[in-house]
Amino acid sequence: MTDKAISRRFFGAAAAGLAALGITGAAAKPAAPKAIPTGKPFILTTWDFGPGANAVGWPMLASGASAIDAVEAAINHVELLGDYWVGAGGVPNEVGETTLDAMIMWGPTHDLGAVGCLKRVKKAISVARAVMEKTQHSLIVGDDATRFAARMGFTETSLTSVVSQQAWDKWAAKGEKTDAFDPEPIRKGDQLVGHDTVGSIALDAAGNLCVGCSTNGREFKIPGRVGDSPIAGAGAYVDQAVGGAVATGNGDVMMRFLPTYHAVELMRGGMAPQAAAEAAIKRIEDAGYSIGGGIAVIRRDGVHGGAKTGWEDTPFSYSVQTAAGNVKTPVS
Ligand code: GLY
Repeated sequence: MTDKAISRRFFGAAAAGLAALGITGAAAKPAAPKAIPTGKPFILTTWDFGPGANAVGWPMLASGASAIDAVEAAINHVELLGDYWVGAGGVPNEVGETTLDAMIMWGPTHDLGAVGCLKRVKKAISVARAVMEKTQHSLIVGDDATRFAARMGFTETSLTSVVSQQAWDKWAAKGEKTDAFDPEPIRKGDQLVGHDTVGSIALDAAGNLCVGCSTNGREFKIPGRVGDSPIAGAGAYVDQAVGGAVATGNGDVMMRFLPTYHAVELMRGGMAPQAAAEAAIKRIEDAGYSIGGGIAVIRRDGVHGGAKTGWEDTPFSYSVQTAAGNVKTPVS
């Protein structure tokens, strides 16, 4: 039976039951949802990627494009930069291969598309969008994600660059095994020192919110490892009535706390964005974890905040672009 048939059967039976109790269809109708004010468009992007990525997404929003198009374009821009921590040509895994994780989430429908351990396809956020728009699934992983991407018309190509090959050669020459086998590194301090994920959140002129993120994950990770980025509520989360959040950092730990879901839910309860970001990070610290991680959040009225843990010497920031210009905010 299709979902629609199940739905017709369920609601038909429910209506008959209500009628037997003397409750008519009109009386049982749920109240119309409260209208959400449209708001003023913005795009937020994390790390030093912010100004460049926002410069791609903002003109689209300003000319009336959808938030999902702006988020995809902003993140594609970063995926193709050749940065070591995002996209092709960076962070090799234990056997020298670069693999990508990404997700996109659409506020109006709460729809989600994500890929994990995607191989040999550069625009991971676009493959994630295809998962969202062309399938009933939310997350496709590994070689099957590559096969799915090929079916959707994406080009297969090597994600290895001179830089990623040299990084792997140097590491492999030491004969060490990946530190991911160390049972407790995450409570002793974090090894990740640089950028590791790009996240974007946009509100368009129609009042629709979208979030997305993309990464090549953790250096010398065990093959098959998937981080927080494609996990809803971990790497990114949006609620059309509230706002959105994006995370970065040690995804093996971050995903245990769903910090982006946590922050958005705190904002739903009335907490200010800065306090919500700090509370989501504090939850991780209170559990005894010593990692590098950060979060940026923005309410649909454009008020934003950010927090980080560890990374004392790592300048985590996010940038928000509106009609008034781009403002980069360092997170302390
Ligand atoms: N936050 C990126 C990762 O750990 O995969």
